[in-house]
Amino acid sequence: MSIRILQFGTTGQLARELLAQARDFDVEITGLSRAEADFADPQAVAQRLAGTKADLVVIAAAYTAVDLAETEPELARRVNAQTPAAIAAALGADGPALVSISTDFVFDGAKGSAYLETDAPRPLNVYGASKLAGEQVVRAACPRSLVLRTSWVVSSHGRNFVKTMLRLAGEGRPIKVVDDQLGRPTSARDLARFILSQAGRLAAAPAGDPVFGVCHFANVGEVSWKGLAEAVFELALGAEAPKVAASSTAEFAAPAVRPARSTLDTGKLERVFGVTPRPWREALADIVVELQTVERSAA
Ligand SMILES: NC(=O)c1ccc[n+]([C@@H]2O[C@H](COP(=O)([O-])OP(=O)(O)OC[C@H]3O[C@@H](n4cnc5c(N)ncnc54)[C@H](OP(=O)(O)O)[C@@H]3O)[C@@H](O)[C@H]2O)c1
Repeated sequence: MSIRILQFGTTGQLARELLAQARDFDVEITGLSRAEADFADPQAVAQRLAGTKADLVVIAAAYTAVDLAETEPELARRVNAQTPAAIAAALGADGPALVSISTDFVFDGAKGSAYLETDAPRPLNVYGASKLAGEQVVRAACPRSLVLRTSWVVSSHGRNFVKTMLRLAGEGRPIKVVDDQLGRPTSARDLARFILSQAGRLAAAPAGDPVFGVCHFANVGEVSWKGLAEAVFELALGAEAPKVAASSTAEFAAPAVRPARSTLDTGKLERVFGVTPRPWREALADIVVELQTVERSAA
């Protein structure tokens, strides 16, 4: 029997991939847009769950504007914590299982090696704090919840680093990218396919099953933003790849403080789900091909 998924968010990187990739899995997926469920209004969103026939609820909507969050802390907290809390409370112990997405930005990046799920979080910015609050309230209210932390999400759509780099290369201007922040890039498609592949198991698992709780998902390999930019250019432009100069985080002076090394360990993912994500460069190559195909068909 198909697993019925109710998904909050339809337009983001992960949301779009979940909706598109669902065709390859035995699921029936329904997405609710911001117009149908605005996360600025926790109670209205929770009401969308009344009488739901879903087996699994996925929160793919979030306040993701890391720098803007510094000046909109209340909205960031409402969208990333209060509304997930209202959803989790509406589901409770007896409703459908819940998947909520969190971030490597719950960590301060000072550990010096990859973060385990058991490491103490210490967010450095408003966005990270709002996501951590979201994790805590979801886990407290819904025992059948999986909080999936991911990092550096990339895809062929939406606002993201890969598209920004290719646009800059197209403009032919000098390119300078931060080289002192390290992390694990993650394909929104790979993350979506992981969630969809586990839908049946999550829907059936009882509270207390190891599939619930916090787990990390990120493509394999650690890189800096500069290293990621260089890979984008190598894959997309080959011998024509522009030179990338190194910038420091301090020089870039973004409003939100970011962790220096927020690399996520994915050993638990392998142990509990038997899944090893592929290397980020392989996932990136697929995204670049997709972007080039879209560009060619638009030309
Ligand atoms: N992007 C990253 O690098 C990254 C890294 C680590 C973790 N994550 C987490 O991964 C998840 C997916 O991220 P993503 O990259 O797919 O995000 P995204 O592309 O920025 O999309 C965010 C989604 O949330 C929706 N949204 C924003 N405010 C809303 C509101 N008030 N009500 C309803 N919907 C709202 C957006 O809808 P509109 O189109 O209407 O704005 C959009 O569908 C998020 O939980 C994020 O925190 C992301």
